[in-house]
Parts: sequence; C-alpha cells; structure tokens
Amino acid sequence: MASMAAGARVPLAVTVLVAVASTMLLAAAAADLDGDRDALLGLRGGLQDPDDALSNWNPELSPCDWSHVTCDGQAKRVTEIVIGFVNLSGPLSPELGKLGQLTRLWISYTNIQGTIPEELGNLENLNTMHLHNNSLSGQIPASLGKLKSLKQLHLQQNRLTGPIPSELDGLSDQTSVNLSNNDLCGPIPTDGPFKNINSSLADNPRLSGNC
Ligand SMILES: *[C@@H]1O[C@H](CO)[C@@H](O)[C@H](O)[C@H]1NC(C)=O
Ligand SMILES: *[C@@H]1O[C@H](CO)[C@@H](O)[C@H](O)[C@H]1NC(C)=O
Ligand SMILES: *[C@@H]1O[C@H](CO)[C@@H](O)[C@H](O)[C@H]1NC(C)=O
Ligand SMILES: *[C@@H]1O[C@H](CO)[C@@H](O)[C@H](O)[C@H]1NC(C)=O
Repeated sequence: MASMAAGARVPLAVTVLVAVASTMLLAAAAADLDGDRDALLGLRGGLQDPDDALSNWNPELSPCDWSHVTCDGQAKRVTEIVIGFVNLSGPLSPELGKLGQLTRLWISYTNIQGTIPEELGNLENLNTMHLHNNSLSGQIPASLGKLKSLKQLHLQQNRLTGPIPSELDGLSDQTSVNLSNNDLCGPIPTDGPFKNINSSLADNPRLSGNC
C-alpha cells in the first residue's frame, strides 16, 4: 500500500515539475518577445514616419501582429523585419542588435540616416541584411564580420565612407556582398566574399585609393 502510494507520488511530482518547468519556459519566451517588442519600439521611436507605415506598431499588441514584422510560429520570436518604399527618416536603433532570433533585416528604399549600429554584429542568426538605397553614412562596422550565418549583405546606394573593414573577410565565401554606390576608400579585403565576383564594389570613386 505504502509503496503504491509512493509510486503514485512520483508521477505527481514529475507532473508538478513539468508544469513548473513549462510555466518557466513560457515566461522566458514571453520575456524574450517582450524584449523583441521593446527593441522594435526603440527603432520606431527614433524614426519620422509621415506615411504611417508603422502606425500599427502598438505596444498593447504582440509584435507578431504588427505590419512588416514576422515571427517564428513556434518560439514566437521576431525573425524578420521587411520595410521598403516608405518615407522613413531618422536612424537605425542600436536596440535592433537585441533581436536575437532575427534572420532577415530588410529596410530598403527609405530615407533612414545615420550610421549602421555596430550592435547589428550581435545578430548571430542573421541570414539577410538589406539596407540598400537609403541615406546611411559613416563607416561600415567591423562587427558585421561576426555574422557567420549571413548570406546577403546589401548596403549599396548609401553614403557610407571610410575603409571596408578587413574583418568582413570573416564572412562566408558564399555571402553576396554589394557595397556599390557609396563613398568607400582604402584597400579592398581579399578573402571571404571578396574573393568572388558577387562582391559588387562599383561606383566608389576612392576605393583602392587613399582614405
Ligand atoms: C519624407 O518625410 C519627411 C519628414 O519626415 C519630409 O520632410 C519629406 O519631404 C518626405 N519626403 C517625401 C518624398 O515625401
Ligand atoms: C537604388 O540604387 C540604385 C543605384 O545603386 C539606383 O540605380 C536605383 O535607381 C535606386 N532605386 C531607387 C528606387 O531609388
Ligand atoms: C555568385 O555568382 C555566380 C555566378 O554569377 C552564381 O552562380 C552564384 O549563385 C552566386 N552566388 C551567390 C551566393 O550569390
Ligand atoms: C549591386 O548594386 C548595384 C546598384 O544597385 C547593382 O547595379 C548591381 O547589379 C548589384 N550587384 C550585384 C552583384 O547584384
């Protein structure tokens, strides 16, 4: 009798443990999605958006329900930001670097300005970074060389200056890099994606010359 009761108690303990663990997991997932929401609100807070492209970025809603934002259906984390052909001006928030599950960052054909935050080098799952046809300036952060999952780095048609960081040769050979139509200068890295013809560097009159 006693051993049967003990036998019954073990599954109960396991059940309680599983319940506690899954509550903790859910809470952790919610905290991460809250972090994603805060990061996106940080982006929006710095931008002028006269077209109201981001008007449904409502803090009361899940960011998974916002326009231009996609979440992973299972983990409920923000995985994609895709914004194009809208009149956004202002800078990219460094808080974007906290979107730990982001695979695609696509903000193109807008008027965003300022520098590319070095924090974007923390997006270890990033597959695609398209920030082309904007008004970004300053140097390309060396931290982008840490993006081991990156397949596309398209920064053409901006106002980027300074040398191409040699750290970018740490990107995969297969990464498609386009830096054309900027004002870059100095030597061109020779390794990684710069070995292959997909790296497009045209229309940087000072490239290969002195900075
Ligand atoms: C874009 O928005 C800014 C204000 O944020 C405004 O000054 C500018 O004229 C707008 N450009 C176009 C093409 O609508
Ligand atoms: C994007 O930039 C390219 C040059 O890099 C330019 O030819 C093209 O017109 C731009 N597109 C738009 C929609 O501004
Ligand atoms: C690079 O270019 C070659 C030839 O144009 C193409 O076959 C290959 O798919 C491209 N690779 C990438 C990563 O874009
Ligand atoms: C790089 O961007 C320029 C300007 O938009 C474009 O003309 C060129 O075709 C692009 N290069 C590649 C390899 O896609």
